[in-house]
Amino acid sequence: SFMNEISEFRVLESQIKDKLQLEHVIIVSGNSDTQPSVKQDMGKACVQFLISILTSNQTIAVTGGTSMAEVANQMKPLEHAANCTFVPARGGLGEQVENQANTICAQMAKKANGNYRMLYVPDPLSEETYHSIIEEPAIKDILEMIQDTKIVLHSIGDAFTMAKRRKASEQVLNKLRSGKAVSEAFGYYLDEQGEVVYKVRTVGMQLEELEHAQYVIAVAGGSSKAKAIQSYFKQGKSNVLITDEAAANELLKGL
Ligand code: BG6
Repeated sequence: SFMNEISEFRVLESQIKDKLQLEHVIIVSGNSDTQPSVKQDMGKACVQFLISILTSNQTIAVTGGTSMAEVANQMKPLEHAANCTFVPARGGLGEQVENQANTICAQMAKKANGNYRMLYVPDPLSEETYHSIIEEPAIKDILEMIQDTKIVLHSIGDAFTMAKRRKASEQVLNKLRSGKAVSEAFGYYLDEQGEVVYKVRTVGMQLEELEHAQYVIAVAGGSSKAKAIQSYFKQGKSNVLITDEAAANELLKGL
């Protein structure tokens, strides 16, 4: 079963934990690049971990993407943790509806028997709109919730895969190329050293603010994401990684 499979990777888990300086690492068997069921297993592992840490009345910030969509698919009623609220970590990042954080939040909340709030902001945001929109009372309210959240769920992407999926302009692609972007998370594009190369302008959680959260849980697997995972963790802003065997093996080679 799924739990038995997890224990197979105790050694690998502690190696990754040491190398990336993490508090918890969970590895599921296989390679999510080629086997869709592996992404489901990462989703299940994430839900299980969430259940183990969650108490009542908490806010959980989530990002978009297919890995998070799978966490939403695997979500279960959070019976022991009443009245939890799911919020999107950041506003629109240029994703299609099914990959948007708003959509995923609503789905998670429905399956968890929880609440959700949405961030209605256009994307991309102009500098001007950005400054006026953060003063809107309804937006301010949810931005405060996001800042206070103790639990964050997110994924990590390969920089150029994400930029193309979001139909980034040639200008943005050039910035990513010249900055040698490797990874992307929360709308931030990072280089091999984990330095920010480019950031999508939108409201919500800023990378620095992750330090206030107690659990920042990254769900990212597949051998194709190993370099991105390594780059992201150079920033060291998340303390839990849920990944797969293929990414874990590849990560150890590169470390
Ligand atoms: C999202 C993040 O959660 O997942 C992105 O907001 C990240 O920053 C993306 O790159 C990865 O997407 P996927 O579809 O590979 O899970």
